[in-house]
Amino acid sequence: MTSIDAYLEKNVHLLPQTNQLRALHTIVRDRDTSREDFVFYAERIIRLLVEAGLDLLPFEPHDVTTPIGATYNGLRFADGLVGVPIIRAGESMEAGLRAVCRGVRIGKVLIQRDKDTKLPKLYYRNLPQDIASRHVLLLDPMLATGGTANAAIQVLLDQGVVEENIVFITFITVPDGIEAVCSRYPRVRIVTSAIEERLNENAYMLPGIGDFGDRFFGTEK
Ligand code: URA
Repeated sequence: MTSIDAYLEKNVHLLPQTNQLRALHTIVRDRDTSREDFVFYAERIIRLLVEAGLDLLPFEPHDVTTPIGATYNGLRFADGLVGVPIIRAGESMEAGLRAVCRGVRIGKVLIQRDKDTKLPKLYYRNLPQDIASRHVLLLDPMLATGGTANAAIQVLLDQGVVEENIVFITFITVPDGIEAVCSRYPRVRIVTSAIEERLNENAYMLPGIGDFGDRFFGTEK
């Protein structure tokens, strides 16, 4: 069993485990849940994750005058955000980000395991030219072994993104995945809604959710 206590304090933002969140998880984890319900309830959790991820970004002071002429000493988002879903499952989180960040820039990366080397390989990337000066919300619902996540983070770093400007938003994860990412990229922050017990021999999380992409996009075999 990996000890991830230090990472939980420093790097990982786990959504508060409220009854409401557990009820949403109960629906999406149920093997008998229809695809329609899976998408609906998964999107509710994704919305919570995106809001928590946005909370980790920098804000700047912004005063406004209220309708009765008083000053409200407020805040506003500092400029420069891009969402980067990892194709394909990460695209399930894109709509949730767009719903709360109107006009947000979106990049894409496609990373898959190379058939020969078995290592994660970058097949496609399309990122804003000025990404180095932006904060990045990297989106992938499943952080399992961490291989894909680490490859995607490296793509961002190679483009000049600052490590502490990366927030990785993932639906569920597991101690091995947290360890894999945080030991290699200790300044990246992770936002998740659940930490599973462990991986099985096929690298699926337990108790888990099954194949998130297949369930979300309706491509179960
Ligand atoms: N990818 C998934 O879709 N589910 C898992 O449990 C692990 C990786």
